[in-house]
Amino acid sequence: MKTLHLALILLSLSGVLTKDSRWGVNYPDNLICAVRGFSVSIPCSYYYPTSNPQKKVTQMLWCSMNLNTDYGCRVPPYVYNSSSNTKSDFEYVGDDKSNCTLLIHNVQFSYSGEYRFRFITDVPGGTWTGEPGVTLQTADLKVSLIRLSGTGTLKQGDSLNLTCDMSCTHSSSQFVWSKNNEQLNTSGPVLHFPALTVRDSGNYTCTWKTKETSGSKTISLQVEGGSVCSQHL
Ligand SMILES: *[C@@H]1O[C@H](CO)[C@@H](O)[C@H](O)[C@H]1NC(C)=O
Ligand SMILES: *[C@@H]1O[C@H](CO)[C@@H](O)[C@H](O)[C@H]1NC(C)=O
Ligand SMILES: *[C@@H]1O[C@H](CO)[C@@H](O)[C@H](O)[C@H]1NC(C)=O
Ligand SMILES: *[C@@H]1O[C@H](CO)[C@@H](O)[C@H](O)[C@H]1NC(C)=O
Ligand SMILES: *[C@@H]1O[C@H](CO)[C@@H](O)[C@H](O)[C@H]1NC(C)=O
Repeated sequence: MKTLHLALILLSLSGVLTKDSRWGVNYPDNLICAVRGFSVSIPCSYYYPTSNPQKKVTQMLWCSMNLNTDYGCRVPPYVYNSSSNTKSDFEYVGDDKSNCTLLIHNVQFSYSGEYRFRFITDVPGGTWTGEPGVTLQTADLKVSLIRLSGTGTLKQGDSLNLTCDMSCTHSSSQFVWSKNNEQLNTSGPVLHFPALTVRDSGNYTCTWKTKETSGSKTISLQVEGGSVCSQHL
């Protein structure tokens, strides 16, 4: 009798612990940086007991904790509500099964903050909010020209750095430089020109990339030759 009891307890415990009977929302990255004016995706997945085959997800919701005062996001406002068809910068690119990815367009400083996903099923009481959520940080991508020698217009032989900066902490971000839309063979945020030549004239674009987003900024360099201005952009 005792053994049977124990076996039953173990059985129900294992039932509780298997993923098939759990509710949850998973955000693979809980801090995401975005460049102002560009798009960013907020990766998200969700799960719920699949034992009942009739169970359907009836509403998918995303809320911003800047706007929503309820920690569980049980009440409006929402930046996305699957039941109301409004077009905004907040686009749901997930589904009604397991993917709750949110794509935010034209990111503004005011979009910085925490976002939480909530879903509602047709089972009474069958709702879930993933908290804590994902925190979005917004920053400007800055490109600066640092003269290391020379003043005034850029001349042959002058030396300078083009430096790209994104004031956002992201461990796995990457800076890529390109010149007139062709990728350059450098890595890192600094383009170093020890001695400029006329051929260095052109449009330089710094692109900042992560898994979730990318943004870019362009600066134009015009280097004058000896006495003639040899290349106009
Ligand atoms: C989502 O929008 C629909 C339609 O406007 C509304 O009926 C529903 O209550 C909203 N969901 C929540 C959780 O507020
Ligand atoms: C979720 O959907 C987005 C957009 O369709 C896709 O890029 C992403 O790979 C999907 N995530 C998973 C885990 O399948
Ligand atoms: C650089 O950008 C300017 C402004 O967008 C454009 O007019 C010019 O043609 C570009 N120059 C090159 C070499 O691509
Ligand atoms: C440019 O990149 C190629 C391969 O990507 C590499 O073999 C080469 O050494 C690089 N050149 C310079 C100057 O870094
Ligand atoms: C310019 O770039 C070089 C090479 O990356 C670096 O060593 C140097 O410190 C930079 N100088 C300034 C003033 O940014």
